[in-house]
Amino acid sequence: MTRLVAVSNRVNLDAPVERTAGGLAVALGDTLAANNGLWFGWSGEVKDGAGPPARVREQRGITYAVIDLKPADYQNYYSGFSNNVLWPLLHFRLGLIEFERAEFEGYVRVNRLFAESLLPLLRPDDAIWVHDYHLIPLGAELRRLGFRGRIGFFLHTPLPPPAVLKALPVHRALFEAFGAYDLVGFQTAEGVTAFCDYMRASAGAEIGTDGEISVLGRRLRVGSFPVGIDAKGFAETARKAVQSAQTRRLRESLVGRRLIIGADRLDYSKGLSLRFKAFHHLLVNHKSWRQRVTYLQIAAPSRIDVAQYREIRRELELQAGRMNGRFAEFDWVPLRYLNKSYSRGTLAGFFRASHVGFVTPLRDGMNLVAKEYVTAQNPEDPGVLVVSAFAGAADQLGGGALVVNPFDVEGVAEALDQGLTMPFEERRERWHAMMRDIVERDVTWWSRTFVEALTKT
Ligand code: G6P
Repeated sequence: MTRLVAVSNRVNLDAPVERTAGGLAVALGDTLAANNGLWFGWSGEVKDGAGPPARVREQRGITYAVIDLKPADYQNYYSGFSNNVLWPLLHFRLGLIEFERAEFEGYVRVNRLFAESLLPLLRPDDAIWVHDYHLIPLGAELRRLGFRGRIGFFLHTPLPPPAVLKALPVHRALFEAFGAYDLVGFQTAEGVTAFCDYMRASAGAEIGTDGEISVLGRRLRVGSFPVGIDAKGFAETARKAVQSAQTRRLRESLVGRRLIIGADRLDYSKGLSLRFKAFHHLLVNHKSWRQRVTYLQIAAPSRIDVAQYREIRRELELQAGRMNGRFAEFDWVPLRYLNKSYSRGTLAGFFRASHVGFVTPLRDGMNLVAKEYVTAQNPEDPGVLVVSAFAGAADQLGGGALVVNPFDVEGVAEALDQGLTMPFEERRERWHAMMRDIVERDVTWWSRTFVEALTKT
């Protein structure tokens, strides 16, 4: 049987799945365990003198192999090129890019280091699944070292159209590296289109009608594979969490008021500043909500070594302070803004206790919080999801969610009002429409579909 090897930037070796930021750990854990798979990546530690060989450990039926990064590699590869260049580029934010050639060289160097450290652990018939924008050149580096087995790549972020991609000074070098893969996957059809358009126009690729691309003497397949969540597991976690002390304390603190919830990494792509403005509009345009609604925004600090992340944090603190200063009463604070992270279990209970899930990123590959919010609801009294049209999740949940343009803050405020006042029958109908898709295309569906497509190419 083909063994599956997953490679991602970060591997949380010691964090129990329950406490991790969700996403990939949950998504890949089961597939790898069922496959006696190997998961390779960066340990998250930065140390002088770090390097191969990888530290290997067996845990929950999976072999984990990690390497540490040297401070300069961490700066160039992770904070620099990955998060100060690729992240804003992929999220359509050209003005935030701070490109330095040395950082791109560091990015390629760390991809080479990953390939060299992984190679001794590989068997010839392994199928390798590479994740996300940090590791685009990894496939090409593995080919250079002689690996001939299947290699697939999945991009968790959006992919903007060629006109945006071409702002990257090294776009050609970066995109040529895609030629090393057998399968390239995106969250949405929009990502697939952007990729094909770019490869056709800038890399001279020929695109077949069957999703096959011929480029640089190789053939690769491309497709959309919207990432899902562990729907059944999360629904059960939420059901149990209702009884938890934290959920009870949250409910009691509301004293009967309605609750709007947002839970995100503290990232400029999440549109938190405009979200605060939209809530402000709600309190101005619908005065009757004053004293009657609370907005709980959890924003877990992220990538604090990157200046843009420190700036967005400062900006949000100012906005939150101003809004509460203007509207709060001695017994009511409109916005509860928290800079910390909570476990998935706690969040599940908080989601279930909320009347509106507020998920309005300016761009997002998928946004699993949108799916988690819906999944956590009580079927007998479900809340309403307000979701950005620019999150991949809107493609799947548009039939039940209130889909908004996050830049239209007054429109978003109207959607909040609509969500807070929506009659039970409509809430239930919308919730069922969303749940059908979330359960059908859950995380197991996602990894199985990708791995099948990879091993059949
Ligand atoms: C996004 C990316 C992931 C990344 C996660 C957390 O979801 O697509 O690849 O792991 O953010 O970011 P961090 O920089 O903390 O790993």
